[in-house]
Amino acid sequence: MRRLGQGSGMEESTYAQAPDPEVTGPEAAARRGDEAEPEVRTSLDGEVGTVTVSGDLTEAARRPLVRAMTDWLLASHSLREVRLDLHGVAFMDSAGMAVLVQLQRLGAPRGVEVILVHPPAAVVRPLQLSGLWRRFPIVERGEDLPAVLVPQVVGDLLAAAEAAPGFMPSEEGRALYEAARSVSVQGPLLEVGSWMGKSALYLAAAARETGRHVVTVDHHRGSEEHQPGWEHHDASLVDPLVGRIDTLPRFRRTIAAAGAEDVVIAVIARSEVLAPLWSTPLALVFLDGSHTEESARRDQDAWVAKLALGGTLAIHDVFPDPADGGQAPFGVYTRVLASGEFEELPGTGSLRLLRRVR
Ligand SMILES: C[S@@+](CC[C@H](N)C(=O)[O-])C[C@H]1O[C@@H](n2cnc3c(N)ncnc32)[C@H](O)[C@@H]1O
Repeated sequence: MRRLGQGSGMEESTYAQAPDPEVTGPEAAARRGDEAEPEVRTSLDGEVGTVTVSGDLTEAARRPLVRAMTDWLLASHSLREVRLDLHGVAFMDSAGMAVLVQLQRLGAPRGVEVILVHPPAAVVRPLQLSGLWRRFPIVERGEDLPAVLVPQVVGDLLAAAEAAPGFMPSEEGRALYEAARSVSVQGPLLEVGSWMGKSALYLAAAARETGRHVVTVDHHRGSEEHQPGWEHHDASLVDPLVGRIDTLPRFRRTIAAAGAEDVVIAVIARSEVLAPLWSTPLALVFLDGSHTEESARRDQDAWVAKLALGGTLAIHDVFPDPADGGQAPFGVYTRVLASGEFEELPGTGSLRLLRRVR
């Protein structure tokens, strides 16, 4: 955000020399860039961190809030939820909203949910006006079950998908949703690779609109890159009794909190084991499971033939340039296209869409 006092030109010196006499209080301080840091108190209780903010939520709040969040992320592997108690906030500007979004983005890769507790009108109104309101779960003070409130507050599966833990960028998720809602043939939507439910919710939004179901298959033990020693390993996901990753509880929580249990059917299985048992023609297949060459080929062999004529194949993490990522999904895309049975639809980012025409 460009702030007065930064950059150059007439605008800056004009404001500096002649501030608007009508604007006083926090807004004037924001314009001058000398906002006071709010009082920030933190407490950590097991999986839940609470941050209580009193004062103004402006750029000056960024440092203490981001520090609290990063300290917890570094120190606690069991952190699941950060509750921002905002009942003492008197004023929030766009920089303050950006701080809330930043906290959410910091937590998302680790599956840490940021929940707003008792936001006053000074917080609610700007969030509503900016369209960010649905992005955050809200609870009143003293409530213990935020997930129960989420469907009522979020009320929108797309917003829940955006807030859900996972790695899918928002524009790709939206493109997946658009592809799923515009597919014109009968049949369920099938996803390979559920993880914690983020992409399943994008599909669920389309399924709800079009009266379908999403079937999502995953053994919930993670792909290669999630295993110990690999880039995306998160030790807090390991079930200590079994000694292996288990994303199923997190997946269930995502789907339940979004109110999507009626449209999402989870199958706990290896996709290649489920496939031979599956005979219903599919309206959409979304391939986002393991990305090794062998598994990607296996998923292609197992599922692509089950697409109905006119159905859509969506493939994630397609990178034509090896410098951008692994080549296995690109290989699937290339082979399917070369079969002559599919035509390409416009893709988004690393998401490729192909329609079965033969
Ligand atoms: C990249 S994650 C999926 C991300 C998810 N689609 C999203 O965007 O939220 C890949 C998932 O595939 C699953 N997986 C890997 N190999 C599999 C297999 N053979 N059968 C079923 N699931 C598998 C892993 O357990 C992991 O949860």
